[in-house]
Amino acid sequence: MPYVLGVDVGTTRTAAAVCRLGGAGRAEPEVVGLGGPGGGVASFLQLTPDGTIAVGEPGDPRRTATGFLRRVGDEVPVVLGSELCAPEELTALMVAWVARQVADREGERASHVVLTHPPGWGPHAKGLVHGALRAMGLPEVTLLAEPLAAAENHVFARGPASTVGVFSMGSHAFSAALVRRAPDRGFELLSWTEGVDQDAGADFDDAVLSHVRTELGRALGELDAEDPRALSLLARLRRDCEAAKRVLSGTPETAVPVHLPTGPVEVVLTRARFEELIRPAVEQAVESLRRTCRGTTPDAVVLVGGSARIPLIAASVPGRVALEAAPETSVVKGAALAARRLLVGPEDEPEPVETSVLARGDDPRLRFPVGALELDDAEIAAPPPRPPVEITPLDLPERRSVKRVVRGFAVSGRSRGSRSPDDEDGR
Ligand SMILES: Nc1ncnc2c1ncn2[C@@H]1O[C@H](COP(=O)(O)OP(=O)(O)O)[C@@H](O)[C@H]1O
Ligand SMILES: [Mg+2]
Repeated sequence: MPYVLGVDVGTTRTAAAVCRLGGAGRAEPEVVGLGGPGGGVASFLQLTPDGTIAVGEPGDPRRTATGFLRRVGDEVPVVLGSELCAPEELTALMVAWVARQVADREGERASHVVLTHPPGWGPHAKGLVHGALRAMGLPEVTLLAEPLAAAENHVFARGPASTVGVFSMGSHAFSAALVRRAPDRGFELLSWTEGVDQDAGADFDDAVLSHVRTELGRALGELDAEDPRALSLLARLRRDCEAAKRVLSGTPETAVPVHLPTGPVEVVLTRARFEELIRPAVEQAVESLRRTCRGTTPDAVVLVGGSARIPLIAASVPGRVALEAAPETSVVKGAALAARRLLVGPEDEPEPVETSVLARGDDPRLRFPVGALELDDAEIAAPPPRPPVEITPLDLPERRSVKRVVRGFAVSGRSRGSRSPDDEDGR
């Protein structure tokens, strides 16, 4: 059945969602499993020693790129081994890989693709990405600012709203935005803030790590930083701190395992202590949202991104707060819905389906969505071992050039999209 595709290339995780074009009933957006954490795929592109690009697996940091979408427009190239790659080329490569994974599964190419981007992108960044996508054989991609996708998903799930505040916190990035209904049934950006000095998920992992260091004192401090075993211990500890942080979204207390050379120990961390550690950062983000809304009280404030699962966030944001059970997928689902609307127009008087949970700090229902996320969390904590997925054909010639790879890579099938690649939000 024909379908449209939404893609969200996050700093750490790339997600995809499809929306069917035929069939009866409402076109629910469906998140597509890409074989990685939380259903998406880790945003890693690795130039392997045999000259192919592996997607989704961290490798030698000198040959692995991550966080490239947020670097689009930055003239400093990303170094992959001996190659210098423009961030927009890596972004396009990731989108093309996702589009092909989905096309292989669906048996046909997406009729249209919407790629989300940070709200602050202007014509320069968008032009670079459009150019790189065209070079990859993907001319029919609409770029849509993340808050607009988040709002689109919100009204689909919960019914009409004319102004929506969007609080977005992922692993590294934070943004706050105020959007309003546009005449075409989509949304338009009224104002936004992107957090430059704003702590987000990865900084919260660091806060947990500092707590562990403080608790263990010299036992950790005495490790020899040059010793490879100590380095691997610290890398594992950081992953365990991130996992403990996620567990604390569902339980009041957890313990971080530390595999010291002298034997394993555990450091207890309560949610109360964790909240104390991150409260200043959360308050700063809430203040950014307040300033971004400039005195307007939006009909709803949507919390999106993986860090929105932290209960302190929903408890701190004022107004009518909406949080989906998997807030890291809200943007990509909105992208798929926007792609559908662009192609076939808005659905007639859609009946909202309850897929999100209104959450207040004092709302007992808040505990439910967080507690119910254990399955996802388990998936993130223990991803099944899998070999890197390779983009084929990506055999690089003697002088390895990712640019050549990008040119050589084409998504199979013909595009049936009818819309020009002009930007949805007209920015
Ligand atoms: N249950 C949870 N509680 C707290 N933080 C979480 C939870 N699940 C995921 N996260 C955090 O969300 C962040 C990833 O958010 P996401 O929106 O998927 O990433 P990206 O920054 O790549 O867009 C990570 O920092 C991760 O630790
Ligand atoms: Mg994200």
